[in-house]
Amino acid sequence: MSCTCKRFDATKMLETLRDKRLVFVGDSIGRNQWESLLCMLSSAVANKSKIYEVNGSPITKHTGFLSFMFEDYNCTVEYYRSTYLVVQGHPPPGAPEGVRLTLRLDHMDWTAHRWRDADVLIFNTGHWWNYEKTIKMGCYFQIGEEVNMNLTITDAFRISVETMIDWIAREVNMNKSYVLFRTYSPVHFRGGDWNTGGGCNSETLPDLGSLPAVSDSHSRTIVDVLSEHAGEPVVMNLDLLNITQMSASRKDGHASVYHIGPDRRAPMQLQDCSHWCLPGVPDSWNEILYALLLKRNAPKFSQVSL
Ligand SMILES: *[C@@H]1O[C@H](CO)[C@@H](O)[C@H](O)[C@H]1NC(C)=O
Ligand SMILES: *[C@@H]1O[C@H](CO)[C@@H](O)[C@H](O)[C@H]1NC(C)=O
Ligand SMILES: *[C@@H]1O[C@H](CO)[C@@H](O)[C@H](O)[C@H]1NC(C)=O
Ligand SMILES: *[C@@H]1O[C@H](CO)[C@@H](O)[C@H](O)[C@H]1NC(C)=O
Ligand SMILES: *[C@@H]1O[C@H](CO)[C@@H](O)[C@H](O)[C@H]1NC(C)=O
Repeated sequence: MSCTCKRFDATKMLETLRDKRLVFVGDSIGRNQWESLLCMLSSAVANKSKIYEVNGSPITKHTGFLSFMFEDYNCTVEYYRSTYLVVQGHPPPGAPEGVRLTLRLDHMDWTAHRWRDADVLIFNTGHWWNYEKTIKMGCYFQIGEEVNMNLTITDAFRISVETMIDWIAREVNMNKSYVLFRTYSPVHFRGGDWNTGGGCNSETLPDLGSLPAVSDSHSRTIVDVLSEHAGEPVVMNLDLLNITQMSASRKDGHASVYHIGPDRRAPMQLQDCSHWCLPGVPDSWNEILYALLLKRNAPKFSQVSL
């Protein structure tokens, strides 16, 4: 393959991010990638006391929002948990029986105003857009004040992507901010799903053959919606961080049974074949992120050589 990706250089990436905010918004796999980037960047900082969470929040088990400052560069690398990117909340008054929660497909997450101005914004979603995590739990789809009991998850996701693209077009200054959407991170459960005893603990090697193309319906939907906006600034300044196919062969790279820890308090059958061990696969995603950042910051005339 003719790949001329620049080799990752933590110091150079931190220089690129000087006085800037880089923000991940998404589900826990977005958090996985955020943690990977923290580790990769911290290798360039000799005095680790100069890297700290701005509110003193502990990194483990903390949900919600975390922001790490790299003091020497006045740059923050932040993570906001938003599994659907749109609002999840209580149903409106008079909602049909059985509706416990709704996803408001026409409304970006309530925390959006906090990351709107980030210099680099990396979205991801997908792992929660399924029947088990929505309708089965009594979580239906809402548009305006209406709960639509008939909407399929596929259609609901598409509407949420339209909301996201419209929001970016309206709220994000594309001259300043660089927006990326990370594609779906493959899972590797075998013999069941995450909640039915599926596993990957016997996987010690990647798939070394060539794999069939992974169908990533989430990215296809995003590409479809973007094509409806062809020519608009929002499309010209938004990149896909396309990692699905390259990660598909790494069935050996997941947290598997190792997330349980030595004290084995969690049941052994709850294997984690969706999150990744670190160092590991998300590091490669961040190497691509680095290359994309360099490319974007390069003067126009040198772009062809990158
Ligand atoms: C640090 O970066 C922020 C932008 O993220 C900027 O507003 C602020 O002025 C910078 N502080 C210093 C001391 O340069
Ligand atoms: C590391 O940074 C901390 C916080 O800025 C500072 O107090 C400490 O003296 C530094 N240590 C060294 C060895 O420079
Ligand atoms: C949902 O489907 C039912 C039965 O097909 C129909 O009566 C109802 O009007 C539909 N509701 C919406 C919001 O489309
Ligand atoms: C972005 O840059 C373009 C071209 O330089 C300019 O016309 C536009 O007003 C800028 N938009 C914002 C929000 O600054
Ligand atoms: C992502 O990259 C794969 C190859 O790794 C390619 O087959 C696929 O079409 C790309 N997806 C999109 C949405 O560009």
